[in-house]
Amino acid sequence: MDKIVINGSIPLKGEVNISGAKNAVVAILPAALLARDICRIENIPEISDVTTMVKILRQLGAGVKMIDRNTLEIDARSVNSYIVSNDLAKHLRASYYLIGALLGRFNRAKVAMPGGCWFGVRPIDLHLKGFELLGAKVTIDNGMINASADKLVGASVYMDNVSVGATVNVMLAAVKAKGLTIIENAAREPHIVDLANFLNSMGADIIGAGTDVIKIHGVRELHGCTYSIIPDQIEAGTYMVAAAATGGDVLVKNVIPKHMESITKKLQDCGAEVIEYDEAIRVRSAGRPMKCNVKTLPHPGFPTDMQPQMTVLLALADGMSIVSESVWDNRFRYVEQLQRMGAHINVEGKVAIVQGVERLHGAPIRADDLRAGAAMLIAALAADGRSEIENLSHIDRGYEHYVEKFSALGADICRVNVPDDDDEQRQDNAG
Ligand code: EPZ
Repeated sequence: MDKIVINGSIPLKGEVNISGAKNAVVAILPAALLARDICRIENIPEISDVTTMVKILRQLGAGVKMIDRNTLEIDARSVNSYIVSNDLAKHLRASYYLIGALLGRFNRAKVAMPGGCWFGVRPIDLHLKGFELLGAKVTIDNGMINASADKLVGASVYMDNVSVGATVNVMLAAVKAKGLTIIENAAREPHIVDLANFLNSMGADIIGAGTDVIKIHGVRELHGCTYSIIPDQIEAGTYMVAAAATGGDVLVKNVIPKHMESITKKLQDCGAEVIEYDEAIRVRSAGRPMKCNVKTLPHPGFPTDMQPQMTVLLALADGMSIVSESVWDNRFRYVEQLQRMGAHINVEGKVAIVQGVERLHGAPIRADDLRAGAAMLIAALAADGRSEIENLSHIDRGYEHYVEKFSALGADICRVNVPDDDDEQRQDNAG
């Protein structure tokens, strides 16, 4: 088992390069299946969600060639299956994008129920409703989602809830459907726009991505293209908050400052100095953060995927802050870990009342999910003394080379392999 060991309380200083966006790439890789041609995709982060998605594409028959560490060529001409089994689908939420992509390609998809982070019930009713409105018949048997249509036909799809996943899935299924699809109350996240730009580079006709009405005129064929993934808004935000929480001075490079506005604003409310450049943001902070209230909302609001990281900063603030989670039912599980480090946080349903303390202290802690893991890294970097973080597979799903990146900023951080209890047991028995 691997652990991260951090000796904290060192202000982060220097520059960090932000990688391609996880939540864009996990939609764009399945979208490449829609072309009977080769797509070259650049700025792909080296994270385990990408590894899993590539395995799924290969299982479906696609050729996937690694051009360099961050560039892949997907050759979808040889794709010959519309079935994604549970052994891979269970590892990531975004496996549900294979339903939209395969439906768009073959008018047929059979995909196991998705895995991914757990924050309460994660329904997919809006995805399925969207497919049905486009003319597909959808059933769920034995944990497999079956969707099939004689022909997909454009339709008006109103999203009862703003959903990133359902917006992506309907775009994927509609892009080659006959006629016009209009998605109303669509999600507006940067990765929705990135997917639309990718599909348009392949010859799709999508307008309005980034607003709440997306119009898709179906096209007959999509061709190959070369495309570069946008920088990861949440990775950038994580380093920005880490800079503020450690009283550091960090230039976060390769970002789109417009995507960062809601995070920038909250850091400024907390007293950090945030300077925007064309493609970089510098965060400088000294002294204790100030309290502030945060409410998560769909884009352009404060992202739920930054809520745990921001809560760590507020746990160190002077005064009481209120963090309201309005996207997920249960996204405060990580608070228990922060309490082990001396944080004073009370959770009441979807609200956390954070009474800031002057210092956190190092402790053995656990990454309960991906962004909870990011929050643990920040807490450990800011805390006095030594912390050990377990359950790294969650963090590995979404953060490229984070040990190297934090080390380059001066952190005392390393990844160590320790025998887990099972290993020890096996060794005892062998001995
Ligand atoms: C995406 O999840 C992201 N994942 C999540 O990031 C992120 O937290 C979330 O969007 C919100 O921004 C990926 O992009 C792979 P939703 P998604 O559908 O698409 C309700 C991370 O850490 N809903 O936008 O699954 C749902 O219950 C991950 O990178 C329905 O009611 O989220 C929630 O309350 C974790 N019915 C709200 O909508 C549905 O059919 C938003 O969910 C679908 C969703």
